[in-house]
Amino acid sequence: MKHSLRFLTLAVVVLSAGTATAQTARTGRLMREKLQHSQRILQAVTTSDWALLQRETQALTDVTKNPTWAELMKAQLRPYADEFQKALADLSAAAAHRDYDESGRSYLALTGACLSCHKHVMNSRIANTK
Ligand code: HEC
Repeated sequence: MKHSLRFLTLAVVVLSAGTATAQTARTGRLMREKLQHSQRILQAVTTSDWALLQRETQALTDVTKNPTWAELMKAQLRPYADEFQKALADLSAAAAHRDYDESGRSYLALTGACLSCHKHVMNSRIANTK
């Protein structure tokens, strides 16, 4: 029993290492940057730090202009990428207007776009397993 548990843990570690290397280091770094900026956006929204909100929204917008991002945005991901960009434009406007409610709504729309795009990527991977 103990032995098979240990084997299972090892299998999980090996499998997750496999998926991590399927991504290039460059893509991984860009994606983690995306996560950090969105975490700081939450910080800015919840504390009404409009300068930080404007800065981090711009930084996240810059990620979407990176060639690595453009390469990843295949046709089927583009609607999600558009939704993501619209949420970023709304966040920037909310920061300019110092609008707490609007920044909150736009933050939720942004997070919704993260989740719906990731769900699409996950589902298409499952469908593509050879
Ligand atoms: C339009 C599509 C899309 C949107 C929107 C999106 N992502 Fe991603 N994300 C991807 C793709 C594609 C990958 C790469 C998956 C892979 O190659 O394994 C990824 C990977 C990641 C990773 C994994 C990085 C790693 O090291 O494994 C993180 C973290 C991440 N995204 C965070 C976010 C956050 C946070 C948001 C929203 C602020 C977001 N993503 C929005 C498409 C998207």
